[in-house]
Amino acid sequence: QTESNLSVTVVGASGDLAKKKIFPALFALFYEDCLPPNFIVFGYARTKMTDEELREMISRTLTCRIDKRENCGDKMEEFLQRCFYHSGQYDSEEHFAELDEKLKQKEEGKVSNRLFYLSIPPNIFVDVVRCASCKASSGNGWTRVIVEKPFGRDSESSGELTRSLKQYLAEEQIFRIDHYLGKELVENLSVLRFSNLVFEPLWSRNYIRNVQFIFSEDFGTEGRGGYFDNYGIIRDIMQNHLLQILALFAMETPVSLDAEDVRNEKVKVLRSMRKLRLEDVVIGQYKGQSKGGKTYLGYTEDPTVPNDSLTPTFAAAALFIDNARWDGVPFLMKAGKALNTRRAEIRVQFRHVPGNLYKRNFGMDMDKATNELVLRVQPDEAIYLKINNKVPGLGMRLDRSDLNLLYKTRYSKEISDAYERLLLDAIEGERRLFIRSDELDAAWSIFTPLLKELETKKITPELYPYGSRGPVGAHYLAAEYNVRWGDLA
Ligand code: BG6
Repeated sequence: QTESNLSVTVVGASGDLAKKKIFPALFALFYEDCLPPNFIVFGYARTKMTDEELREMISRTLTCRIDKRENCGDKMEEFLQRCFYHSGQYDSEEHFAELDEKLKQKEEGKVSNRLFYLSIPPNIFVDVVRCASCKASSGNGWTRVIVEKPFGRDSESSGELTRSLKQYLAEEQIFRIDHYLGKELVENLSVLRFSNLVFEPLWSRNYIRNVQFIFSEDFGTEGRGGYFDNYGIIRDIMQNHLLQILALFAMETPVSLDAEDVRNEKVKVLRSMRKLRLEDVVIGQYKGQSKGGKTYLGYTEDPTVPNDSLTPTFAAAALFIDNARWDGVPFLMKAGKALNTRRAEIRVQFRHVPGNLYKRNFGMDMDKATNELVLRVQPDEAIYLKINNKVPGLGMRLDRSDLNLLYKTRYSKEISDAYERLLLDAIEGERRLFIRSDELDAAWSIFTPLLKELETKKITPELYPYGSRGPVGAHYLAAEYNVRWGDLA
């Protein structure tokens, strides 16, 4: 905690992300006493609203997460009294100057830090940054800006955005969020690797057969078709969330846990990756389905989506890292909407035990029974290791069992939302979990050629029914590398 003033201005305050994630995360930090004592929140958007109306709007989504927490109601009231609103256009320096006046009144001349959270569409990022940095920067403390994807659609547009933002801000002031980096299990990945002797020595092509990064959602793009159709699942999930996890998984040991050291290693591993080609991916799109008396609309039946759209809502890809540690190991990714379940996980499939005694003696199919380490990011956070085990009793029969660390049985504390961790880090100036611009460039260069080819060749996605396990092409892709998807085994 610091004695300086802090203001967090949420630009795009009436949007969904602000209501569902950012205000509740700020309240959670306030509740946990993680924020400086002189802390205020400003909502900024075009909608006309009074402070009271903003408070009313925010209060609908605030929760204390655990019902019986002490003083929850009082704390909420205290938090809401620190929330204010200013209505203005996103490209008006004059309106940002008015915001500046209001901020100054509350800051009473003390050292004051200002954080801006841009919860707005990317086409207005630069306008807002220009107006905010020219007219509403802190005069005596720091000014930081949090932005969230999409950071462009490809290498060129992302580079262009970075250059435009840097006209007004230094790289150190820009905090590019990938909210998956704020998830508990993703943060734990490095702890698991680098502080357990039983894992790190096995973390290479010598013992790992393949690694899988799986994301699935059991709902479609309902209501978000306008945004989604312009991006598709590869840009929405793979190029950022899954690739970030992959980089943390596969990077070399950083010199230290400092932000620059960690991000240097992430950039190196990303730069060692092969650019994706058309033959390395399978794309799909969900179609309508009637189930249990309910009708689920297909992607192109969504009124916000053009009915001839070829945008993928599912993709599977095989990626490779051409370095000494990972040469030849397939890193498979799979991401899809409107599938049968909601889940995000990392699966590490280990090699066979050479000369396994039990393969010869008891006829077990060891090709199917290799060890597998699973990190379940959500729901129901867990880490488990699939091992072969003797079934108790006379005689000798083996089965597959799990060494299971299920968070909800091991830890009683509720798991924080990713946005809480990331907001706190941005306030504290901890940059490790934010994406540096060279990281972003490296990430785009893996995907850009493929994305262009998909679009210029108008590749048709394989249709899969809403609520299914996705296109069968994903199995063939994995099979080409002698891999079975662990989540379907
Ligand atoms: C967002 C994507 O980045 O992540 C959404 O734009 C997706 O399409 C969401 O639904 C998933 O986040 P979470 O935290 O709910 O898994």
